[in-house]
Amino acid sequence: MSFNKDFVWGAATASYQVEGAAFEDGKGLNIWDVFSSEEGHVYEGHTGETGCDQYHRYKEDVQLMKEMGIRAYRFSLSWSRILPEGTGKVNEAGVDYYNRLIDALLEAGIEPYVTLYHWDLPYALHLQGGWMNPASPEWFYEYAALCAQRFSDRVRFFFTLNEPQCILALGYGNGEHAPGLKTGPNDYFRIWYNLLKVHGRGVQALRENQKQPLQVGMASCGGLFSPAGENAADVEAARRATFGLMDDSLFSAAWDVAFWADPLFFGRYPEDVQEKFGKYLPAITEEDRAVITQPLDFFGMNMYNCVPVRADEKGDPVRVKRYDGFPRTANGWPATPEVTYWGPKFLYERYKKPVYVTENGLSCHDWVSVDGKVHDPGREDFLRRYLKELKKGISDGTDVRGYFAWSLLDNFEWSAGYKERFGLIYVDYRTGERIRKDSSRLYQQIIAENGENL
Ligand code: NOJ
Repeated sequence: MSFNKDFVWGAATASYQVEGAAFEDGKGLNIWDVFSSEEGHVYEGHTGETGCDQYHRYKEDVQLMKEMGIRAYRFSLSWSRILPEGTGKVNEAGVDYYNRLIDALLEAGIEPYVTLYHWDLPYALHLQGGWMNPASPEWFYEYAALCAQRFSDRVRFFFTLNEPQCILALGYGNGEHAPGLKTGPNDYFRIWYNLLKVHGRGVQALRENQKQPLQVGMASCGGLFSPAGENAADVEAARRATFGLMDDSLFSAAWDVAFWADPLFFGRYPEDVQEKFGKYLPAITEEDRAVITQPLDFFGMNMYNCVPVRADEKGDPVRVKRYDGFPRTANGWPATPEVTYWGPKFLYERYKKPVYVTENGLSCHDWVSVDGKVHDPGREDFLRRYLKELKKGISDGTDVRGYFAWSLLDNFEWSAGYKERFGLIYVDYRTGERIRKDSSRLYQQIIAENGENL
């Protein structure tokens, strides 16, 4: 088996990273507007104030996607553009913007995949404690219900949260991301528990307000592992590492896939999490369990790389050192194509849901060459290798429904600002000009051939 004929070949972005128009048409402040404006948080003081200006250039971007044959666009809604204070009064200009974007996509034959929350919490809600506040699941319910009412007549696919792992570990753990807090274990696990409920209330809000049957899930991330050797013991070790704590730190707890997904799919905490952190974990009430375990249609996961492990004498996973000079992307991440084989396989086997690779890609040192084009052979090679592994997984029986390249455009890479370029399309931030990179042509070809020649 190869890629199904309706395999979803997509590309992804997120509101704060591409929209710009941070202070236009009634949008309220969000935590990234504030965080990036403060000295020392983002590389060279970059902000998303103008960014890729997709707010004004969305038609051009839709046209470029159409040219590339992209079948689905995963983008996120800016909560504070729609509800400037987070709850209460609706900003109709913000709703209109997303209506225009959705209509333009549909007109171009591109399916919208909407992420409700990709890290840009309304600042007004942050001032009330943000995700620390036990009322936060209800705030999210209100927002998600509104989105379903306004958009689900045309949008069929929704993600609740993007990478709650990063929200917790980077936003409230090491302070690298907005709101830049460093909490202790009590607050940390309270926020985690709230986020599980936030997700569940989001699912309920979508389904209770849907205008047509929706497909709903999360776009998560986490530490993925691959077997160092081709033997059953190493495969089991890699599986255990994927669904287990690798050390005692709060930070790495957030990257344990089971830490989030077991509560969501099984309604319980993983045993090792209970053992190590039991005294901090809020007990799941029956009422909350019903919220947290709302049925999902798929498992969405952002996948960039994985760590090789081997089994020791007891079968426990042991990290294997990478060889000197191991291939790395511009921001130093290891290039490990096998992640798109093992990641979806392990997820599918444990949670038994169709998988979407909701993000995959890399940062390269891209610039405009003397011929006026942007050549990115590294990204072409990466794309080929990662998609080949994905294809292999599908032919071995893993149910993968879609792949979203991160990213459609170069964009604001959080604390790294515009230093990192992840796009299939180059953006000149001085003018807003877009230039299709070579990799966008390769992706176009792969899509046209439905991956047959990988
Ligand atoms: C995951 C995040 O969802 C996205 O916002 C980010 O830009 C990419 N990874 C690359 O770091």
